[in-house]
Amino acid sequence: MEKNSVDYSAWARTNPVFMTAKTSVCLMAQAGIPDADRVVRRLGLGSAAEVSGMRDAGMLLGNELVVEAKYRTMCQLIEASGYQINVDLPCGYTPKALRLTEKGLRFVGLDLPIVAGEAGPALLALADHPDRMRFEGVDATNPDSLAAALKDVREPVCLTTEGMMMYFTGSEVDAVLSNVRSLLAEHGGCWITPDPEYILQFMLTFKAVLGEGAIQKLLASRDAAAGQSDAGSLTNAFIVNPMDVPASVERVTALLAAHGLQARRVNLAEHMPELAVYRKLTAAQIEAFKAAMRGCHYWVITPDGHRSERAESGADGAFSMHCAVEGGVFQASLRGRVDTITAPELLKAWEAEQGAASVAAAEIDCSRLQYISSAGLRVLLIMQKSLGGARVRLTDVNDDVWDILETTGFIDLFEAERKA
Ligand SMILES: C[S@@+](CC[C@H](N)C(=O)[O-])C[C@H]1O[C@@H](n2cnc3c(N)ncnc32)[C@H](O)[C@@H]1O
Repeated sequence: MEKNSVDYSAWARTNPVFMTAKTSVCLMAQAGIPDADRVVRRLGLGSAAEVSGMRDAGMLLGNELVVEAKYRTMCQLIEASGYQINVDLPCGYTPKALRLTEKGLRFVGLDLPIVAGEAGPALLALADHPDRMRFEGVDATNPDSLAAALKDVREPVCLTTEGMMMYFTGSEVDAVLSNVRSLLAEHGGCWITPDPEYILQFMLTFKAVLGEGAIQKLLASRDAAAGQSDAGSLTNAFIVNPMDVPASVERVTALLAAHGLQARRVNLAEHMPELAVYRKLTAAQIEAFKAAMRGCHYWVITPDGHRSERAESGADGAFSMHCAVEGGVFQASLRGRVDTITAPELLKAWEAEQGAASVAAAEIDCSRLQYISSAGLRVLLIMQKSLGGARVRLTDVNDDVWDILETTGFIDLFEAERKA
């Protein structure tokens, strides 16, 4: 493979969640969001049913409603925030860059490198104001990648996150919250996100317009999203439980406070503009949908003025690795952070060594490994599967990485030894 060509396969295997963004822009096009159809054509995508595997018309309609309500309300909240620059993390493939730059705002789209590298050229080619937008590859859990992407930004930002937090494990949520806190402390501005109440928004929407069978369609739609992302439950400490809203809002608020952040909840029904997808609904369905959205809120988050209890250690998280095969044992020494940006390197090194020599075991020196995200864990799992019965051995694992292995349940899969 050429040095600069994109290895889609390694990216897809280490973090397949980026596929969900393609479904999202297809749903937007079907809902009738301006320019989404141009993006879909430019990317050569098919219908939402083809891209997502969801075939049921009711399920697709419910998803279109959620996606359009989110997109238009978020654009409205960004414009009303008064900040002149929107940093959209993750930007996916949505036409938000086109809409906001037409209104005079500037737009920085951040997403995994595989998405930013594809969305950027597509949107720039469709833009009347390409000078007002740029796209950068980042990993939201990786502070250095975010700082590098925003190094030229010298003003407060309206940071937005739509459809990302639910894919993370607990330690990834902590990493992202800590990064958001640092970013807002440095630049000023606010973070707006519908993610804490996304399950509630789906539930209320499906129940309001799909009547009987709504819950089955909701569950099937969740399974389709989980299948596309390889994420498990699509919930974590940042997500409100619709069965117990007051207690879980309190829990998320406390989590934010532990990171030096505070939230104001804004009512969705009060800020949601008219939707194009209403043309597919009856008057009674529209009324029921609008009433249901009174039960859902988007979160506007800012630093609370206190220092974060979980301040970054300041340690250098730059990734590097050394790999070799000796006596049939793949030996790797990892340093820094293994996350969505760096995990494909480990996967490729493993596959290259495996192709060149006969490998019967794998041993990873973790003494300088600071952090591992689910993308990194996925690579260790791929290694273990291809070893046939043998278990991957992890040595000198520090307390932070040990916690991640324990909370994700991976500790029992590998042969892990804690740092003395
Ligand atoms: C459901 S899509 C949402 C995209 C867009 N906001 C939208 O509304 O269509 C989820 C997005 O999260 C991105 N993503 C997942 N993990 C990420 C990470 N660690 N850092 C940055 N982006 C991530 C994926 O690449 C994908 O584009």
